[in-house]
This record gives sequence, C-alpha cells and structure tokens, in this order.
Amino acid sequence: MRSLISILDFSVLELDGLLKTAKDIIANPAKYAEKCKGKKLATLFFEPSTRTRLSFEAAMYELGGNVIGFSSAGSSSASKGESVADTAKVISCYADIIAMRHPLEGAPYVASRNASIPVINAGDGGHNHPTQTLADLLTIYREKGGFDGLTVGFCGDLKYGRTVHSLIEALSRYKNVKIVLISPDELKLPSYIKRDVIEKHGMAFEETKDLESAMAKLDVLYMTRVQRERFADLDQYERLKDSYILTAEKMKKAAENMIVLHPLPRVNEISVKIDEDKRAKYFEQVANGKYMRMALILKLLEEAEKSKAREAVDLKGRLLNKLVCKNPRCITTTEQELDQIFRPVDEAAGVYRCIYCERKETLN
Ligand code: NCD
Repeated sequence: MRSLISILDFSVLELDGLLKTAKDIIANPAKYAEKCKGKKLATLFFEPSTRTRLSFEAAMYELGGNVIGFSSAGSSSASKGESVADTAKVISCYADIIAMRHPLEGAPYVASRNASIPVINAGDGGHNHPTQTLADLLTIYREKGGFDGLTVGFCGDLKYGRTVHSLIEALSRYKNVKIVLISPDELKLPSYIKRDVIEKHGMAFEETKDLESAMAKLDVLYMTRVQRERFADLDQYERLKDSYILTAEKMKKAAENMIVLHPLPRVNEISVKIDEDKRAKYFEQVANGKYMRMALILKLLEEAEKSKAREAVDLKGRLLNKLVCKNPRCITTTEQELDQIFRPVDEAAGVYRCIYCERKETLN
C-alpha cells in the first residue's frame, strides 16, 4: 500500500508524473470531474489548518469524491486517549484515503503502518510537509520551467519550518541546485538535513543572517513564518518573530525574474505591498496546491487498487528497542507500545536516527 509520508517516498520520475497530471487537470478539469466518484477522503487534522485541509477537501470534491473528517484534536477520540494506530484502523473502515496532520513527528507514519488505505502526511510537527512541497514544486515548475541549476533562498524559521525541510529534500534530487539558508542562529536548519540531505547530495549551500545581501543571487526566495507553536520558550519567540520582513525596498535588490514563495499563513514576514509585485507567487502557490493534491489522490487511489497489502516496517539493518527517542515532539512519547526503531547513521560511532522523527541518538 503506497502512502506519502516524506517527499522522498516518491522518485523524481513519479514527481514528474504528478506535475504532468496537475498540468492536465488545469487544462482539462472536466476530464477529472468524476474520477473519484464513490470514493471518500478522510481529513484527520489534529492541528489547525486552513489551506491544507480545505485544499484537500476542494481537491476531492473536484474529483467527484466525498470528504469526511475533523479539524481539531478536541473533536476526535484522541481527546479520550485513542492512539494514532487505532484511529488509523478505525478510519480504514470508513474511507478510501486519509490526509493526516498531527503535532507529533512521525504520527502519519504510524498511521500508514496501521491503516489499510493510503495515508498522506499533511504536516507532522516540525518534521515534514510533503504536499506543501508538491505545491511549491508545481509553482517553481510553472514559473521557471524546471529545477536544475536554480538558486533557492530559504528565509526565516528553518529549524521548525517543516515545509522548508521537505522542499530541500525534494530539490536535493535535481542537478546543480544551490541553496542559501537565511536565518538567525537560533532558527538554523537542523543538522540532520544539512548532513543527510544537502551534504550527502553534494548540494552547494551557504548560510547567512543577512537577507538583503543574498537577494541578488536568488531565482526563488522561500519566505517562512516563525513557528510560534513549536517554541518551548515564548520569550525567545517574541525576540525572533520579526527577524525578517520582506519589504518593497528589499525587493529592489532582487532580479526581475526572481519569484517569492511562502507556504502561508503569513504573519508579517512579507509586507502586503509586495502582493502587487509580479514576482509574488504565493497565492498562485495556493491554487497549485489543490491541483497537486488532486494528482496525488488519483495516484494513491490507483495504486491502492493494485495492491491492498499493508506494508510491514522493514527492520533490516535497524535497531529495535535498544535506544529511546528523547525528542519530546516524537510520536513515540505518546504511543506507549510503539517499538523504538532506529536506522544507523554511523554504526562504528553508535549513532542512529529515530525512524519516526529522525532525532539522532547515540548508543553507549
Ligand atoms: C505551513 C505548515 O502548516 O507547516 N502551512 C501550510 O500548510 N501551508 C506553514 C506554516 O504554518 O507556517
């Protein structure tokens, strides 16, 4: 059973296929209007969302399907203590496909291991957000014609910004993409992404605190909100929240054909005056998200028809219940009976990563 938990679950070829389908949906919407007739999408949102949830719902309706679900943890049995695994098994009896957002990292992965229908990760804590990446990719593709050779600047909260993590993973598989990481020290990109993604793929990258001086070299500027809900220390959030504000003045430094993206919601990191600038593409990005989610739902439902088998966790080369994940935002903190599974990073040094949230732990 195919799910989408990380953007790396799909090959570049498969992503190309989704881009192609999305473009065909844009050109011929009527052709797709009944493709999901009789099918149900369950939107399980344990965390707030406007765009992602409504875009999934709009996507399913435009494919002729139906939608069931909830939009806050409080209105689900999670508030009674139901596990993610049980929720996934229950929803499998009602729906054909699940889109799940959860504050705990790895929760959609756990759901995918327990559901008998495909699961789409609609955002898990500060970890991943692969369907936002699909929206980002289609926007870049439509504006720039491809990905090879682009210089992409990521600005703001690179630590907790899950959309940033997933987009960098996606871009790492294209040729000669350069990354400019613009953030305060406290909000730098997690080291696992720097090491396991950027360095592993030999991507050129630089880090800076200065947005203005980076502007001129960018083809794409990806602005992000400082993720208030992930901070343990709200004073720190207050200090950092206005680290970057994109103004018309700063846009003067950018190339004529640079594009500005933002996964939204915007707080005040982009002046509303920029909305009139033809380089601002964040509202187009929203529309593109719906088309890519339509393409994704079609692909996963088609694959589910072919294989109903639930995938077992592959334990080859993995460490089972020998380490405990200490990330307070990991799904293993609440699902008590979940096996602690780690994959090796550096076996000789005893370094492993949690397969749910990717936190690094060391074996003594
Ligand atoms: C993003 C998210 O939820 O991670 N929003 C979205 O899905 N478009 C970005 C954010 O909340 O800042």
